[in-house]
Amino acid sequence: MSDAKASEETTPRMEDLVSLCARRGFIFQSSEIYGGINGFWDYGPLGVELKNNLKAFWWQRVVRERDDVEGIDSSIIAHPRTWEASGHVEHFSDPMVDCRTCKRRFRADQLPDEPCPEAPEDRADRSCDFTDPRSFNLMLQTQIGASEDAASIAYLRAETCQSIFTDFKRVREAARQKIPFGIAQIGKAFRNEINPRNFTFRSREFEQAELEFFCHPSEREKWFEHWLEERLRFHREIGLTAENLRTRAHAEDELAHYAKQAVDVEFRFPFGWQEIEGIHDRGDWDLSRHGEYSGKDLGVTDPETKEHFVPMVIETSVGIDRTCLALLCQAYAVEDLGGGETRTLLRLHSALAPIKAAVLPLSKKLAEPARELHRELRRRWNVFYDDAGNIGRRYRRQDEAGTPFCITYDFDSQEDGRVTVRERDSMAQERVALDAVAGYLRERVECGA
Ligand code: GAP
Repeated sequence: MSDAKASEETTPRMEDLVSLCARRGFIFQSSEIYGGINGFWDYGPLGVELKNNLKAFWWQRVVRERDDVEGIDSSIIAHPRTWEASGHVEHFSDPMVDCRTCKRRFRADQLPDEPCPEAPEDRADRSCDFTDPRSFNLMLQTQIGASEDAASIAYLRAETCQSIFTDFKRVREAARQKIPFGIAQIGKAFRNEINPRNFTFRSREFEQAELEFFCHPSEREKWFEHWLEERLRFHREIGLTAENLRTRAHAEDELAHYAKQAVDVEFRFPFGWQEIEGIHDRGDWDLSRHGEYSGKDLGVTDPETKEHFVPMVIETSVGIDRTCLALLCQAYAVEDLGGGETRTLLRLHSALAPIKAAVLPLSKKLAEPARELHRELRRRWNVFYDDAGNIGRRYRRQDEAGTPFCITYDFDSQEDGRVTVRERDSMAQERVALDAVAGYLRERVECGA
């Protein structure tokens, strides 16, 4: 087996990535045995670890490491007035068209390039025959309680941030925070997207990690710049490279109904540049509207100047699923090792990798001490044990799962108390003392590493 790196393919084809994700248990269709359900995805054993690690990384950087941010976890269903006040009942819609021939439905701004599959052979124009655009509200509705009338309608939240606004006063007082400060949360959001597509990129159920940062009106530009910079630093830190990241400011006519200024962070996916995060200056829209609809004063008083004002809000809103997808696209590589041999690997940041290390005894005869090492390491990290198949194949399985370190326990280990640690990307190997392995991993696989 040659471990020399000769050449590699970097931009994955979506079908290869989707296939690896299903085969290795990262992400696959929800309700697969029933043929799936459009716009819904399940995360398998490796996917849930990747996603949890990404959320923990975000929480660490955005909440725990800062004195001026508090975390919450609010209910998915809020009082329906929330969504009237936020403007979602009135404004949260996309223009939709139907094809009169094939009956498919599209977003009016995302029409298909291909001809209509049902267009009659004798028709000269083979494109779809579209209706005029109609407005389609994207909020998913449900019923609360036993009666089914207008009063029992509730919405599955379309964004996680609205509860941050309705909880603002409670959290500020409970945490004894003063302006400027922020409230953050991670959670599910639901949108009845007309055309879910590009794998998990546009789904109907997805997760967001959102921060609403409340500041004095005179400081909104300063905090907008601050958070834009912080968020770009985060994306670089998790391994998205400069050539695959860019920012795009919204033009005046593109701004959401609440936004005063907005910049998207975009990633270069195999299907083109697309948004993974939005940084928005939401002004005082949300707090003012919730103040008006609830009849509660959501303003604050500056303890020194005694000025009473409604804080301005700078929002950072990142899609967890879209970022996982970006990470997988960035990490996926097929390396040509020469001699007709290739390896597929995921070069994931070690703090995000689903499995931090795999313990591989060279022979089943070495299972006992190898298991002992595995037991010690798994107390702290997700560490895999594998004694099946030849060592080269076991390395390849871990490369494909994105495991940054393989630890081989061999016959010399019993003599010299050392194991071989192989690093995923370089395939470099080094001998590490058994009692130093935990420290070796700690330095390399934790959030600050
Ligand atoms: N609170 C502001 C807000 O929700 P957004 O731009 O609509 O703003 C923020 O959404 C982020 O949520 C997006 O940048 C994206 O990463 C993610 N997102 C939005 N719609 C999504 C969908 N249908 N599927 C997956 N992720 C989505």
